Amino acid sequence: MYKLKKINGEKVYECGDSKIRVLIDKKKLASRVKELGREITRDYKDKNPVLISVLRGSFIFVADICREIKVPVTFDFMAVSSYGNSKVSSGIVRITKDLECSIENRDVIIMEDIVDSGRTLNYLVKNLKARNPKNMEVCALLDKDVPRKTVNKIKYKGFDIPNKFVVGYGLDFAEKYRNLPFIGYIENE
Ligand code: IMP
Ligand code: MG
Repeated sequence: MYKLKKINGEKVYECGDSKIRVLIDKKKLASRVKELGREITRDYKDKNPVLISVLRGSFIFVADICREIKVPVTFDFMAVSSYGNSKVSSGIVRITKDLECSIENRDVIIMEDIVDSGRTLNYLVKNLKARNPKNMEVCALLDKDVPRKTVNKIKYKGFDIPNKFVVGYGLDFAEKYRNLPFIGYIENE
């Protein structure tokens, strides 16, 4: 069982032996997701974009934001792996599940949970651009403050966050914590 505690006024969840400190709570997530949905609705008026959800981390974000987008959208899913069970990216991006549909001549929005080194996003943009979409933009819930060489522009960004390993709201550490309803970081790790 996850247990909520308040330590010096800060919310901390005890999850077995780990403590998870809340970075972005449920309310802040919901209101920012709503705003992003509004921006996409405005920019895609009279269009039918395809949302490409990058599995598995983005599944909750996509499920929430799609209901704030008031134009018809279609969905496709792609899975890539670069981390294994570690907190540090291996640097090698591998497609473990490809799209089901063609994106040729479509308005594509890549839906990412988090951009860390930017390697995954750079790889995805390059790979998907080669399939000739009409237009392609990136929507990412979190943008981590790490030094990077070149990273594709995130047009729709939820939050800038410090360089910490975060979990919850779809994001995991070794497949755990995805179902936490907030974004937090594991203390003392
Ligand atoms: P990048 O290639 O280093 O930008 O890493 C991107 C991918 O790694 C994201 O799509 C996440 O799935 C995963 N990732 C990066 N940082 C975190 C984190 O802090 N928590 C959980 N997953 C992360
Ligand atoms: Mg991801």
